[in-house]
Amino acid sequence: MSFSLDHVVFFGRTWDESIDMYALEEVDLQGRRILDCPGGPDGLVSEGLSRGLDITAVDPQYSDGPDVLEERGRREIHETVESWIADPETTKDLESMKEYERLKIEALESFIKGYRTSPDRYLTGSLPSLPFEDDAFDLVLSGHLLFLYSLKEHGGLMSNDSFDLDFHVAATRELVRVSREVRMFPTYAMFGETRRHDFVASVIEAIEADGHDVDFLPSRWVQEEYTEFNDSLRILKRT
Ligand SMILES: C[S@@+](CC[C@H](N)C(=O)[O-])C[C@H]1O[C@@H](n2cnc3c(N)ncnc32)[C@H](O)[C@@H]1O
Repeated sequence: MSFSLDHVVFFGRTWDESIDMYALEEVDLQGRRILDCPGGPDGLVSEGLSRGLDITAVDPQYSDGPDVLEERGRREIHETVESWIADPETTKDLESMKEYERLKIEALESFIKGYRTSPDRYLTGSLPSLPFEDDAFDLVLSGHLLFLYSLKEHGGLMSNDSFDLDFHVAATRELVRVSREVRMFPTYAMFGETRRHDFVASVIEAIEADGHDVDFLPSRWVQEEYTEFNDSLRILKRT
């Protein structure tokens, strides 16, 4: 596939997609302090608050207001899906791409509703330096930034090397600093031979050397043809 990106797009998953991709059970979320990092325009905080959860999101783009973010989200979803459709090497059919677009719009609309009604739950911040105390959260959910936005040759989507291995290790350590547990998704390579993303082993090595436990949980959310290595990476803090 010749498709690539030169920046992180403002895309998000719905609540149902997110719960399945992180291999979570809703019943286990009650009473925990949860951080969605980066939240982007996903449905986790909006839907989580409506279920009585203590959940907050952080993202660098939250410095912009809801009107700006809604316009950006709709434009980036549309432009990205159109560029997939135009890609001569695409393996996706038109119907599945339209369904993908519909789910992204559903997540964006849920996000915008939550952002307008509970702006205090959407904080501005960036990895690898988050604006939180040590252990401020019990669980951090980190989807569709780490691993995914690395260079294509490492298994990511990017045409430039903004997020190299050093960034990944520093960012993962920062997620561990602010929480007792971290779950990250995806961990597979988007391009090249079917495999775990090239950075996963080095990130695990660094986190285990810090004294924490790491394992994989099979994801219940299957995206397109990515059925192998379809796991959420779980880190349990031990210090
Ligand atoms: C594709 S969205 C992911 C949203 C959601 N977590 C999901 O899985 O659906 C990626 C987000 O990463 C954010 N981002 C970009 N650089 C970042 C950084 N250095 N630290 C934290 N978030 C960043 C972008 O603003 C964007 O909203």
